[in-house]
Amino acid sequence: MSLFSPLTLPNGSVIPNRIAKAAMEENMADADHAPSDELLRLYQAWADGEAGLIITGNVMIDARAMTGPGGVVLEDDRHLDRFKAWTQAGRSRGAQMWLQINHPGRQMPAALGQTTLAPSAVRLDLGAQSKQFPMPKAMTETDIAEVERRFVATALLAERAGFTGVEIHAAHGYLLSQFLSPLANRRQDRWGGSLENRARLLLRVVGAVRAAVAPGFVVAVKLNSADFQRGGFSAQDAQAVVAMLAPLGVDLVELSGGSYEAPAMVGPARDERTQAREAYFLEFAREIGQVATMPLMVTGGIRRREIAQQVIDSGVAMAGIATALALEPDLPRSWKRSHAEIPALKPVAWKNKPLAAAAHMAAVKYQLTRLSRQRRTAPGVSPLWALVVSQVEAQCRTKRYRRWIVQRRAAA
Ligand SMILES: Cc1cc2nc3c(=O)[nH]c(=O)nc-3n(C[C@H](O)[C@H](O)[C@H](O)COP(=O)(O)O)c2cc1C
Repeated sequence: MSLFSPLTLPNGSVIPNRIAKAAMEENMADADHAPSDELLRLYQAWADGEAGLIITGNVMIDARAMTGPGGVVLEDDRHLDRFKAWTQAGRSRGAQMWLQINHPGRQMPAALGQTTLAPSAVRLDLGAQSKQFPMPKAMTETDIAEVERRFVATALLAERAGFTGVEIHAAHGYLLSQFLSPLANRRQDRWGGSLENRARLLLRVVGAVRAAVAPGFVVAVKLNSADFQRGGFSAQDAQAVVAMLAPLGVDLVELSGGSYEAPAMVGPARDERTQAREAYFLEFAREIGQVATMPLMVTGGIRRREIAQQVIDSGVAMAGIATALALEPDLPRSWKRSHAEIPALKPVAWKNKPLAAAAHMAAVKYQLTRLSRQRRTAPGVSPLWALVVSQVEAQCRTKRYRRWIVQRRAAA
């Protein structure tokens, strides 16, 4: 199977090739937390690069629950025209474009000043940086029902805005992934304990979204192949959850791994199977593929055409690429012609893994900002410098967010 052959999903819709731009949070929302012109320009660059599938950075289903400042929020139709402009840019060369929808749960910075909800009152353990995230409040039945309702509402708005699908974010330690994890979810009611209970919210969200949107609209899920923490969500759990998702009409499952506490998604994980490898979740995908009835996508460490091709040859339907497409948005188009090598970022070999992951993310976001200004990328940027820049920007955006949320509350 060629990287450039189309993929027909279970709902009948077609992705023109096997290369996906994986989700990357851009922090480029405008003052209303809608897509800005910078964001539109960034997605035009990816559209022009001809990835078959473009997945947005995570978009919040609730303005009070943000993964960070400057995030896009879609909870009503006030700014739907901006979202329509976004899909026009992203889909202009025939790619499918999915909105990744998310709720951070306890992974919300304390500086945003919001009440933090999570399955249980268990705080993130980030060593010296733990205070940056507040002690969450355990969710009530009403809170859980509201989250389910909001995932559906955002998916319906995404459909109206012209996205071809949504990807429900159940990976990387955010709310749905917290419910799945026995470390973050200590509940003793029907939402905690057994895997069936821990998976209940994800399954309900997926079922409710699938029932609400049109059959031709894609419903995908991003899931951890493991959390890489002792006692956390394991590879066996992931396999079982994929089997539970199978009857729900899921069109694709993207496999990733890790969380803020064990950031396996952006580099070497704490598991020898994934260390220092390219396409580092591929082995998990092989195991999970034994029970998956829907197409799978793996994301993580893919930056060479041969590796992307190996992923497809192994029976995985899509190769998800984040960092390499931030450095070179034209990658799919140039791979069509040759085996073009792409530049790599400076490796961040710091002992503190969460801080190293933050520096890597900052160096990638640095590239996104440059692309959004129609400038060439700068792979040689110092990760430390990128981290400083991103922290200063985050402080400004945090102030802006806090003013905005107060004004909204006053206007409501
Ligand atoms: C700057 C940055 C932002 C990210 N934001 C998201 C996100 O919003 N949602 C998500 O599922 N993954 C996010 N990721 C993880 C990527 O989708 C991907 O899983 C990870 O970077 C590994 O792929 P890569 O090696 O191709 O970069 C982000 C990664 C980076 C570097």
